[in-house]
Amino acid sequence: MLKKELGFGIIGCRMGLSHAIGLKLCKGGKLVALCDKREDILKNAMKRTNLSEKDCYTDYRDLLKREDVDVVVVATPDQLHPEHTIAALEAGKHVLCEKPMALTVEECKEMIAASERTGKKLMIGQICRYTPGFIEAKKLIDRGEIGELFFVESEYAHDYTHITGVDNWRIDPVRLRHPVLGGGCHAVDLLRWIAGNPYEVCAFSNKKVLTHWPVDDCTIGIMKFPNNIIGKVFVSVGCKRDYTMRSVFYGTKGTIITDNTSNFMTVYKERIADGERIFEGLSDQVMGIKYPVAINNHNTAGELSEFIDIILNDKPVKTDGREGASTVAACLALVESAAANGKNVKISYDF
Ligand SMILES: NC(=O)c1ccc[n+]([C@@H]2O[C@H](COP(=O)([O-])OP(=O)(O)OC[C@H]3O[C@@H](n4cnc5c(N)ncnc54)[C@H](O)[C@@H]3O)[C@@H](O)[C@H]2O)c1
Repeated sequence: MLKKELGFGIIGCRMGLSHAIGLKLCKGGKLVALCDKREDILKNAMKRTNLSEKDCYTDYRDLLKREDVDVVVVATPDQLHPEHTIAALEAGKHVLCEKPMALTVEECKEMIAASERTGKKLMIGQICRYTPGFIEAKKLIDRGEIGELFFVESEYAHDYTHITGVDNWRIDPVRLRHPVLGGGCHAVDLLRWIAGNPYEVCAFSNKKVLTHWPVDDCTIGIMKFPNNIIGKVFVSVGCKRDYTMRSVFYGTKGTIITDNTSNFMTVYKERIADGERIFEGLSDQVMGIKYPVAINNHNTAGELSEFIDIILNDKPVKTDGREGASTVAACLALVESAAANGKNVKISYDF
């Protein structure tokens, strides 16, 4: 018999706490266990979620033994996603794994294989697909409101000066986590969602702010998409400004500018009446219309609600392992190109 309420366990209680809070708003899912290797962080999460001590673990393997855990949220550092995801799948749990899926395509493949072997669902938390402004932009584009896309761009500008992660995993010199993959995967995934899989990229990068980091802090990438769409991503994790994912979608009949940190989006459209273009006043400029949108750039409730519905009703996962791996492959192609000073890199989506 199908279950009506799924038990959730969360591994990694910082971004994981945001999932715990989102879960409270979801029907059909209930938090039953938490894990963090750091006792202080675990205790804080325990207080915030009202779980008792017996439901909180410092070793994720103890959480996986719990029969009432149906779904595991993996919100640990990126380099641990494969280990934690595969172990959870093998323990018979469905998994929502944070982005980026993994640091290499090979590891992504192992995670996909584990999901297929166990028959358990794997969803990658590409949260931009639950951001109200981006959802609205995609709806308008898919409906043809701005005609045919010819140029798409997205930026991930987020000052990470003080966001190195617990135990500084974001600046680990051994398991390099390039910002284009770590944070830029949001922008790359957004462009893939809107314009399809880029097949060729070139990129340049530099490091002028976070000079002690083992990787460049600024990258610009040019991408070629299907249907002769071209695009650009800009990633900076040293920039001195407030966080933004300003994104612009240029179509033959209009343009959309939207963001995940502003409460409106702008849509420019050619004005058509009876097949004729109307020019108002002296200008033939198209009209920019501002629509209010909720910011909600960490819509974990939307993401978790969808996963609950997918599991309870046995639907396919939209951002499954192959989608997550495709975003990793595109990001790594940008990193490879930047390391070779703008060399053209072709992307294979052979998963
Ligand atoms: N979707 C988003 O917008 C978004 C935002 C922030 C972070 N993230 C992702 O979420 C993940 C976590 O990021 P964060 O910012 O919370 O990092 P963080 O360093 O702030 O927190 C990671 C937590 O995992 C714990 N941890 C580490 N190893 C562990 C282990 N073996 N077992 C149990 N717990 C362990 C740490 O103690 C820490 O509390 C990363 O993959 C990151 O890329 C996503």
